[in-house]
Amino acid sequence: MVKPGTVGELTETLREGGYLADRGLATALFVALSLHRPVLLEGEVGVGKTEVAKVLAAVLGRRLIRLQCYEGIDTSQALYEWDYARQMLHIRALSERQLAGDDAVDKLFGPKFLLERPLLDAVRAGDQAVLLIDEIDRADDEFEAFLLELLSDFQISIPEIGTIKADRPPLVILTSNRTRELHDALKRRCLYHWIGYPAADRETEIVLIREPGVPAALARKVVAAVHRIRQLDLAKPPGVAETIDWARTLDFLGETDLSPDGASDTLGAVVKDRDDLEVVRDNLEEITSGAP
Ligand SMILES: Nc1ncnc2c1ncn2[C@@H]1O[C@H](COP(=O)(O)OP(=O)(O)OP(=O)(O)O)[C@@H](O)[C@H]1O
Ligand SMILES: [Mg+2]
Repeated sequence: MVKPGTVGELTETLREGGYLADRGLATALFVALSLHRPVLLEGEVGVGKTEVAKVLAAVLGRRLIRLQCYEGIDTSQALYEWDYARQMLHIRALSERQLAGDDAVDKLFGPKFLLERPLLDAVRAGDQAVLLIDEIDRADDEFEAFLLELLSDFQISIPEIGTIKADRPPLVILTSNRTRELHDALKRRCLYHWIGYPAADRETEIVLIREPGVPAALARKVVAAVHRIRQLDLAKPPGVAETIDWARTLDFLGETDLSPDGASDTLGAVVKDRDDLEVVRDNLEEITSGAP
């Protein structure tokens, strides 16, 4: 697919890919695509931050390259690494005479023994890729600083090989669940968009686009109930993913309506914390009353 020409066109394309983006999100993505800026998506758990990168890659016909961040991630997991095991095997296979040769060691640090990790892969792929840097808030400060540098020039220097640069950078989507504040410098480099919980109508639409088999009336009931659950003081309020799961579960069990009993039996699809379960159980009548 060629680049969409307007925000509306991008919204439509995403919808065809099964993702409903509101105007704000679609605008951020459109600008990012057009002006080659990274986008930082923050939001609650399970509101479609990761999914939008996947769908965008699919509808644009680009490769999705995903870097999942975690505590302690470093450049050897993110950028590249030398394939130590293969290097050792190679050395063993060489004769003494070959080993003494001038370029034997140089060859050990050539492309053949280089293990590409997602960031190097993305720099090489350039605008043929969507680079998803998922859950950046889990990585530590040093890694964030390193990313900042990469995002500013899309250039990677490997001492033994040389510099690799993307002529046209990939579309970069960073996500964060805000378990910690990100640095201003990183935020400044990115377009920022906060994804909140969708309004009830939109969330119903999302359930139906994802689970077309679920009756619309059941979807509406489930969404209304989830909205009530979110108003309770919970440790882990349910995201859109949970709404979809709950609707799918109820439908699978042949429920066409949301009764307190049916809800109670299937609560595990939507509430995933023991204390939260108790709070929700205490309010089931009201939650399933159907009122929005
Ligand atoms: N706007 C949307 N349109 C279509 N599907 C959506 C939308 N928002 C959420 N979803 C659905 O919710 C699921 C969860 O979304 P996703 O995994 O992207 O959430 P997330 O924000 O990355 O959550 P986490 O913080 O847990 O990583 C997706 O698989 C998708 O089916
Ligand atoms: Mg995610």
